[in-house]
Amino acid sequence: DWTMGAYRAAKIADIRTQVGKGKVICGLSGGVDSAVAAVLIHEAIGDQLTCVFVDHGLMRANEAEQVVSLFRNSYNIPLVHVDASADFLGGLTGVTDPEAKRKFIGAEFINVFEAEAKKIGGADFLAQGTLYPDVIESVSFTGGPSVTIKSHHNVGGLPERMNMKLVEPLRELFKDEVRELGRELGLPEAFVERHPFPGPGLAIRIPGEVTKERCDILRRADAIYLEEIRNAGLYDAIWQAFAVLLPVKTVGVMGDYRTYDSVCALRAVTSVDGMTADIYPFDAAFLSRCATRIINEVKGINRVVYDYTSKPPGTIEWE
Ligand code: XMP
Repeated sequence: DWTMGAYRAAKIADIRTQVGKGKVICGLSGGVDSAVAAVLIHEAIGDQLTCVFVDHGLMRANEAEQVVSLFRNSYNIPLVHVDASADFLGGLTGVTDPEAKRKFIGAEFINVFEAEAKKIGGADFLAQGTLYPDVIESVSFTGGPSVTIKSHHNVGGLPERMNMKLVEPLRELFKDEVRELGRELGLPEAFVERHPFPGPGLAIRIPGEVTKERCDILRRADAIYLEEIRNAGLYDAIWQAFAVLLPVKTVGVMGDYRTYDSVCALRAVTSVDGMTADIYPFDAAFLSRCATRIINEVKGINRVVYDYTSKPPGTIEWE
């Protein structure tokens, strides 16, 4: 009979076999998957593992702090915190195509990991929290009948030239199983229940060109939306909720003035594995409270809309 305890033990044995005496770099994204992968690998190989948290400047508000303090304080797993925001944001200048954004971000992550590997005298492996749905939805740069829906950076977006071999201990798991494994490993419940956050971060929630200014605007709107969701006690009923900043300006009126500012779209879905999703049916009072607060409190946004698209035909993210 199959239990998470048995899975944990089996994966630890696998990791030891694969890695031997080699050194592993694990990129932490701030999300549950990479954190669970890191804790598991640390249990298997201890200080042969170096965890790297890359701040690409595309985090939502407070995304980073929790994971950094979890690793440093609760687990005592050494963590290198790299501020690479200038390189990421600089390289995204003028990039508007969603796949081009992912490719650039994937390559830039590898640059940072390789630089960190050099500092520790080289690393043989790169660990990632790739899940089964990432594997399925990213299949096939190599042809075959399936089309690539999105090259999730932690699978398809890796450059060919990468020297490190991949360690992906969660490759067979769905999200609910990763959460269960996280609990099995003793991660705090509030961390385990966090909504997924994509590796490319806010870059794929800002259709069109990504700038620091637009990231800041989006972070403010997103934080208000998430605060309202938590206050309403709805966070755990939702798979993912986030704001999207559209590259469209519309006319509005504030007091006696005409405004001409960006549109913000709110998205919230329920799902079991991210492969299909339904919109979350907020009541009208909740949505108008969010809209009013965002428009009043966030300079640069004068209109808020709610996305009513399920997956399929939409995807969860807008890019
Ligand atoms: P989509 O938008 O494909 O999202 O319906 C399904 C799930 O995957 C996440 N997602 C990503 N995660 N890198 C990631 O690490 C990516 O490029 C990426 N794109 C989407 C998305 O947040 C949702 O949970």
